[in-house]
Amino acid sequence: MKVLATRRYPGPAFDELRDVEVGPLEARDDVEALIVANEPVDPAAFPSVRLVANFGVGYDRVGIELLRERDIAVTNTPGVLDAATADLTWGLILAARRRVVEGDRRVRAGEWKGSWADGFLAEELTGSTLGIVGPGRIGSAVARRAEGFDLRVLSARSRDGGDALDELLAASDIVTIHAPLTPATQGLIDARRLTLLHDGAVLVNTARGEIVDENALVTELVSGRIRAGLDVFAHEPQVPKPLLSLSNVVLTPHLGSATRQTREAMTRLAVENVLAFERGEGLLTRVA
Ligand code: 8YV
Repeated sequence: MKVLATRRYPGPAFDELRDVEVGPLEARDDVEALIVANEPVDPAAFPSVRLVANFGVGYDRVGIELLRERDIAVTNTPGVLDAATADLTWGLILAARRRVVEGDRRVRAGEWKGSWADGFLAEELTGSTLGIVGPGRIGSAVARRAEGFDLRVLSARSRDGGDALDELLAASDIVTIHAPLTPATQGLIDARRLTLLHDGAVLVNTARGEIVDENALVTELVSGRIRAGLDVFAHEPQVPKPLLSLSNVVLTPHLGSATRQTREAMTRLAVENVLAFERGEGLLTRVA
């Protein structure tokens, strides 16, 4: 089966594909399966394609409705990236709450002159309240890690309805988002909901930028009222300019699943789906 992959995906599993070409998603009629990293697929450009294997758990940009209409199967890579994404979430929680990146910058700028006995203070992490928006696989992995910090953990599903989410936002010292991007979660954390966060609260997003109203978030961060750790943005790789000079936000370039082991496991799962399809067997992680 002829496969077109949008890059050479990392790890040895990629070499198990017998007939694969690496290249851009340009129209052609000889390809039967695509491996993409949440890139939009125009099914009309690939009339022979029967499978799109997405390298990633989130497939919000692939264009699943059009693919479904044309009976093109779609798979993703759930599970294998939960630990890496939960770990990165904790990196951002700790960095934002304890002002780690700001401290690093001050050291490099030669501003560390002696003890900060009463300056440069942060809010305690241990004993605080963590609100998890989307307690699915990744959110649950974040919650398990919270036990070590003696946190009180609250959670709300996006489908629980607005009141549960509003209460979580108002009651949490740290809010972390782990919902998929769907029409129902787009803009879920809007300007009104952001105002529910209390002064000094930390918002962490390793899910999708579009789940938060990015303009409203920028306004809150520029005011200095809240803090944030952001791995995802609405228009990646663009990051809103005003954030670049703020010390109350930690920015990372969509690194949630970016460990060697996890990325290799994602490749393996995408490839296993392609090979299963080729053999006429059931797909491992089908989403359409
Ligand atoms: C990306 C992700 O897919 O799994 C997801 O939903 O956002 C990431 O793992 C990965 O960075 C490749 O683009």
